[in-house]
Amino acid sequence: MTNYQITLLPGDGIGPEILDVAVAVLNRVGEKLALQFEFKTALMGGAAIDATGVPLPDETLEICRNSDAVLLAAIGGYKWDTLPNSLRPERGLLGLRAGLGLFANLRPASILPQLIDASSLKREVVEGVDIMVVRELTGGIYFGQPRGIFETETGEKRGVNTMVYSESEVERIGRVAFEAARKRSGRLCSVDKSNVLEVSQLWRDRITQLSAEYPDVELSHLYVDNAAMQLLRAPKQFDTIVTGNLFGDILSDAAAMLTGSIGMLPSASLGVAGTPGVFEPVHGSAPDIAGQDKANPIAQVLSAAMMLRYGLNEPTAADCLEQAVQTVLDAGYRTGDIMSVGMKPVGCQAMGEALLAAL
Ligand code: IPM
Ligand code: MG
Repeated sequence: MTNYQITLLPGDGIGPEILDVAVAVLNRVGEKLALQFEFKTALMGGAAIDATGVPLPDETLEICRNSDAVLLAAIGGYKWDTLPNSLRPERGLLGLRAGLGLFANLRPASILPQLIDASSLKREVVEGVDIMVVRELTGGIYFGQPRGIFETETGEKRGVNTMVYSESEVERIGRVAFEAARKRSGRLCSVDKSNVLEVSQLWRDRITQLSAEYPDVELSHLYVDNAAMQLLRAPKQFDTIVTGNLFGDILSDAAAMLTGSIGMLPSASLGVAGTPGVFEPVHGSAPDIAGQDKANPIAQVLSAAMMLRYGLNEPTAADCLEQAVQTVLDAGYRTGDIMSVGMKPVGCQAMGEALLAAL
């Protein structure tokens, strides 16, 4: 029996309900494959602010550090939207990424054949889309110094953030992306704004140098504005995309929408070997439907699958979860966000039960 310590961060909004489903399916797959998961729940986001005054208590970071992997649901909500920036739930997420050194964020966006009609783009444009966005997660403008709102001599305020990348930061995310592309179709597109920004020139130069070590990967470059347009115009030209923190934030939401529902997409945030990764849905905490049994738990379940695959090196168990998702979709079960005519409407819990039955 292999034993894994998993930290659960249910967070806010729909977080706790979708995480319950993921825990149930993990336990079921564990029974089947002789894996034992020991779960420890910790506070983060708005829930942590209410209980302790801060979005990421030290204790939570410590529990995460001492586990094999972290399964996060979602954070944030209207209630905390008016707090100063340094106390917002989002800061907890950024603190977790920085605290664990999770520099590589993998965001797959592939369209499931069962859900093609849920996309807002035409069938022929999105059918077969299978993209992996590799986003740098602990650098760039999200973390660059100086930052802040400063008062000038005239009394006018100036807001400042700094977009900065060092060569080593570009290199380590570049390596993750080249490796990922190598395991996929062997095509990598690096996205920057090197026609305007020096930080992007350095990015492009370093990625180009690195490509000499990966002759089997076909590298291309796009400016971020063009990349956004191409994602909507002809998304099938993309396989693996590598980009910085801010561009990756934006492009990964755009890529997610190609697939019809952001409620389906998982992500993995990884650091150097040996540090626990954080696995979470791409979607947010959806406070408008929280507690109503309407949420789609599939992105959370697929995040658990990514945890098994990338965090715990248990590919068979990951396959099981992904297969169960296919089975319930084939059987016609749909939560509201992916509902279409003729399908069987279910809530979060019933979707969870269908997944358990499929396992
Ligand atoms: C994401 C989110 C976060 C980000 C927010 C919640 C801080 O949008 O994970 O994409 O900007 O990175
Ligand atoms: Mg985002």
